Amino acid sequence: MMPIAPLMIEHRLIERMIRVMKKEIDLIGKTGKARPEFIDEAVDFIRTYADRCHHGKEEDILFKQLSEKRLSDHHRQVVEELVEEHVRARTMTGNLVSAKERYLAGDAKALDEIKGTMTQLVDFYPLHIEKEDRHFFIPCMEYFSSREQDVMLEAFYEFDRTLIHDKYRGVIERFEGKR
Ligand SMILES: [Fe+2]
Ligand SMILES: [Fe+2]
Repeated sequence: MMPIAPLMIEHRLIERMIRVMKKEIDLIGKTGKARPEFIDEAVDFIRTYADRCHHGKEEDILFKQLSEKRLSDHHRQVVEELVEEHVRARTMTGNLVSAKERYLAGDAKALDEIKGTMTQLVDFYPLHIEKEDRHFFIPCMEYFSSREQDVMLEAFYEFDRTLIHDKYRGVIERFEGKR
């Protein structure tokens, strides 16, 4: 199996979250209210699954190993764009958290900001995913031998294996005041 296979499977789950978020935007339109508990769960999904687990494997393993290859100018530019897009997604997610906090504090403008940032995320992810799935992942595999691809797949599994332990060790260390 090529290492891009698990990344593509992860894209499918992110797309399902995006569909759920679209419905939530419609619900906000109908009720005139946000559901902070939905936002908390959506943000946890985006930060832990989409960003840390998924973008983490892309940036720390795939893009890093690509940077050691003699990439075409085009592919080098696409890697830069994808990294910038990950940064933008983090900013949008942070903006959603701050809008939710202002909503809870009674700020009248916060509902529109919640809708606006959720719409940005819903618009962003399908385009980012399409760029990777249809225009980047398959051609970029040609820079790697099949042995290198096998090693990368193993590195992905190892990344996933340690992630949940790192996440919850971090939670405890924050409680204990070590960070
Ligand atoms: Fe990405
Ligand atoms: Fe991706």
